[in-house]
Amino acid sequence: MERTLSIIKPDGVEKGVIGEVIRRFEANKIKIVAMKMICMTKAQAQGFYAVHKDRPFFDTLTDFMSSGPAVVMVLEGENVIARNRELMGATDYRKAAEGTIRRDFATDIEKNIVHGSDAPETAAFEIGYFFNRFEIMS
Ligand code: CMP
Repeated sequence: MERTLSIIKPDGVEKGVIGEVIRRFEANKIKIVAMKMICMTKAQAQGFYAVHKDRPFFDTLTDFMSSGPAVVMVLEGENVIARNRELMGATDYRKAAEGTIRRDFATDIEKNIVHGSDAPETAAFEIGYFFNRFEIMS
């Protein structure tokens, strides 16, 4: 059993697709074991995306991520890191496969509706960034 962090980013909340994203998780037998709505500060967004701190998009990305409410979730299931990434589609919505969340709803490489951890080590860091163990259902 694996866990991953999912974020419905401020553009996803703004576009009203919280329910649709969650529906896709549940339709694919992915279990939500923790969930909350948060408004990240710029500093929180910078800490979350620290691995990207030298990228040219770091400043606009962290501005965007702290621009409004986001929904953070812990997903659980077999191979859920890869399965969630499949459901999300490629970072660039123009390269995302048909029927993926980003292909269906994103309009921008940065404002791409959802985030999902890319490996077990990043999932552990990212889950711990937003949730303590009492907030995650076992
Ligand atoms: P995410 O999966 O959250 O991981 C890093 C984020 O940086 C990514 O989604 C996008 O929101 C953003 N991002 C990645 N590449 C670019 C890029 N080339 N230009 C702007 N934003 C990007």
